[in-house]
Amino acid sequence: MTSPLFSDQLLAWFDLHGRKHLPWQQQPSSYHVWLSEIMLQQTQVSTVIPYYQRFTAKFNDIKSLATAPVDEVLALWTGLGYYARARNLHKAAVMICNDFNGHMPTNIDDLIALPGIGRSTAGAIMTLAHQQKFAILDGNVKRVLARYFAIDGWPGKKSVENTLWQLAESLLPEQRIANYIQAQMDLGATVCTRSKPLCHQCPLSKQCQAFQQAKQTSYPTPKPKKEIPTRQVHWLIAQSNNDKILLHQRPAHGIWGGLWSFPECEAKHELCNITADLQLEQLNSISLDEIKHTFSHFKLVISPHLIQCKQQTSYIAENKNLSWYKISDALKLGLPAPVKKVIQSIQ
Ligand code: ADE
Repeated sequence: MTSPLFSDQLLAWFDLHGRKHLPWQQQPSSYHVWLSEIMLQQTQVSTVIPYYQRFTAKFNDIKSLATAPVDEVLALWTGLGYYARARNLHKAAVMICNDFNGHMPTNIDDLIALPGIGRSTAGAIMTLAHQQKFAILDGNVKRVLARYFAIDGWPGKKSVENTLWQLAESLLPEQRIANYIQAQMDLGATVCTRSKPLCHQCPLSKQCQAFQQAKQTSYPTPKPKKEIPTRQVHWLIAQSNNDKILLHQRPAHGIWGGLWSFPECEAKHELCNITADLQLEQLNSISLDEIKHTFSHFKLVISPHLIQCKQQTSYIAENKNLSWYKISDALKLGLPAPVKKVIQSIQ
């Protein structure tokens, strides 16, 4: 007896259990699919939904996004992390306006050529918005396929990734491509989860090699471990006697590029150099609780120091990356999550 097709089983499961009411599924234009896919990279659906709603309330098409200052785009991204995604989104919107007359390209190679759009995101746009037959290979799909076929090796390794792409393409159905792609994502997110997968609810378990060998959590093979380094920084949180705080806009590249943060240094004794450089007249100083923040390639340990001072203006006015803000105005800027937390705590 031949086993039913992978795609038929997945589609039958999708009809019963797939997600059909996500906000971006209500108007699946290529712009809305693109935006949602970018937000959903490394981020769960429940986190994304309010960000997506706020973002589309302000920028509901490519033109409004392209003509907005990037700072406004970053402000709507505050807390979502991986801010290069927002900068690339904005940059790509500008390119689409200049090179494609404001219309999202409908050709996969043109999509992949845009900043921030890789092969899998382009595949999601082509399938979910245009019902074209393409594969995707995001983290969820990698996990489903690595288990189903018991593929050894870390999926981030080129040779393993190539094998997974070939498998993903070989399984594509002729009909209902958008539902099939959504079903793969949904199965990975809700049943074939990283830990404690719900194999008894899975429509594919009978043919799943990992399940049949009772080795489902051994797949996908984890990334070879590398200790990530720790970096220590000290933040100078200058609060003026008229209740403003001093913020510094970070350079466009590097961590938290373009976001507003506090003046910082690596060693505590350098704080007094910053205070002197900024010509701040310090009245009082309090060390706040340490904050730990983990990036993909290092851990950041932040020691915030609240310095109460008079509002100095001349030096700061000359430096366009520095500015005094009322707390309520500061909270409207593009801020890294730990900066926002500190500002709220001193509010
Ligand atoms: N993760 C990535 N894309 C998704 C989508 N369209 N729906 C649900 N989860 C996703």
